[in-house]
Amino acid sequence: MKNRTFYIIAAGLLGLSILFWYAMFQPNQPAGLAENEPDYFDGSFDLIMYHGEGCECCVEWAKYLEKNGVNVTSELVENLHEVKREKGVPGQLSSCHTAVADGYIIEGHVPVEDIRRLLAERPAVIGVSVPGMPPNSPGMDIPVENTYQSVIFDEDNMFIYNTHN
Ligand code: CU
Ligand code: CU
Repeated sequence: MKNRTFYIIAAGLLGLSILFWYAMFQPNQPAGLAENEPDYFDGSFDLIMYHGEGCECCVEWAKYLEKNGVNVTSELVENLHEVKREKGVPGQLSSCHTAVADGYIIEGHVPVEDIRRLLAERPAVIGVSVPGMPPNSPGMDIPVENTYQSVIFDEDNMFIYNTHN
């Protein structure tokens, strides 16, 4: 009998510690992400893009979105860093322009499908970013072999949202 109690307690403790480690190393998925197939918003939507003077690739990204059914308003700003800080874009995720669509921040050369997915799934995040300026991303359009990722983010966390080639 004593042995049995011992094994039950030992098994319980082992279970608890496995749960603990599992919880420790699980990335905190933001709420609202689709479990299997992603959803995509297929209507038209508005987007405001904030960009600095003389940014050609920003203009190209806006044109690409318009071709894909997005109503883009471009706003030239003097201090883009200030806009990024105010909108909560983490420094390591920043790019050449910062946009807002339906309350979400869209940072950099994000492919329209990732924006449409964000608007359909509505995860609890600040927004989505394609950090830097990948050469083969929309609006950059340099025909090179390259893999880049879009990342959704909030104040404390970042999660890979999609991988593009
Ligand atoms: Cu750019
Ligand atoms: Cu840009």
